[in-house]
Amino acid sequence: MTSTVVTASFVVAAMGAFYLLQERHVEQARVFLRLALPVGLISSVLLAFPTGDTQAKLVARYQPVSLAAMEGRFESGPRAGLNLIGQPNVRERKLDNPIAVPGVLSMLAFGHLYSDVKGLNEFPDKDWPDNIELLYYSFHVMAGLGTIFIAVMALANALAWTRRLETNRPVLWVLMLLFPFPYIAVTAGWLTTELGRQPWLVYGLFRTAQGASPTVHAGTTLFTLIGFCGLYAVLSVLFLYLVAREIGHGPEPLEPAERSSVREVALV
Ligand code: HEM
Repeated sequence: MTSTVVTASFVVAAMGAFYLLQERHVEQARVFLRLALPVGLISSVLLAFPTGDTQAKLVARYQPVSLAAMEGRFESGPRAGLNLIGQPNVRERKLDNPIAVPGVLSMLAFGHLYSDVKGLNEFPDKDWPDNIELLYYSFHVMAGLGTIFIAVMALANALAWTRRLETNRPVLWVLMLLFPFPYIAVTAGWLTTELGRQPWLVYGLFRTAQGASPTVHAGTTLFTLIGFCGLYAVLSVLFLYLVAREIGHGPEPLEPAERSSVREVALV
């Protein structure tokens, strides 16, 4: 749920930044930013801690092989680092070109810098998630974007509190251009969970391969999938068209009574 609040805040902040850059609907744009910036900062921080932090601890406790794959961790050991950069090389069972912050993964997983975090070497290959590369990149895109969201929202709030945001066009541009990224982070988060639980439907008990129905033909599944893709493609185009139309049209002009109450709220 917190990720939806983050997404909504970034979209509202982007709208405010867009109208300020265009010098249209300026009074409403100030209200958008006045509301979206603090909510965006608080929800982005909550997403990292305690939400993301707790998720990581639960994965470490109940799905240790998933955590090892998310971090491209092939060997066990204490003081496990969080990889900022690196490419998992599954064939050679190592992470290429890693840059890690020592101890942070141990901290994230168990709350202590020196805790032992299991690597993939502790588990049989048949229990490894099927697509370790995509899982690793999904997790890092999500966590990386989460860190960027906190930094941008902290900067934008600091500028707003000191009344310098409206004149800072680069930061307004950043706020405007960031609006698709929470959607990307949410999708990456979903991918992390879904890829991380493979090859199990019920972790440790029931494999995904055992869940396939012998009576449903592969062609039928493909046909249904193509049908859903088509439906979602049509809905996406319609959604983008309606959103673009609403943004182009903008909010209705304020009545004089509304204008004075908006002035009280909009102090960006
Ligand atoms: C900032 C650092 C972050 C950390 C440490 C973190 C941690 C995690 C972890 C460990 C999972 C996997 C849980 C599992 O496999 O059961 C997860 C899932 C998820 N994350 Fe993040 N996350 C972070 C940021 C974000 C951001 C910025 C977003 C979106 C705006 C996000 C959205 C999600 C979503 C939608 C899921 C899937 C939840 C589910 O399907 O149950 N996360 N996160």
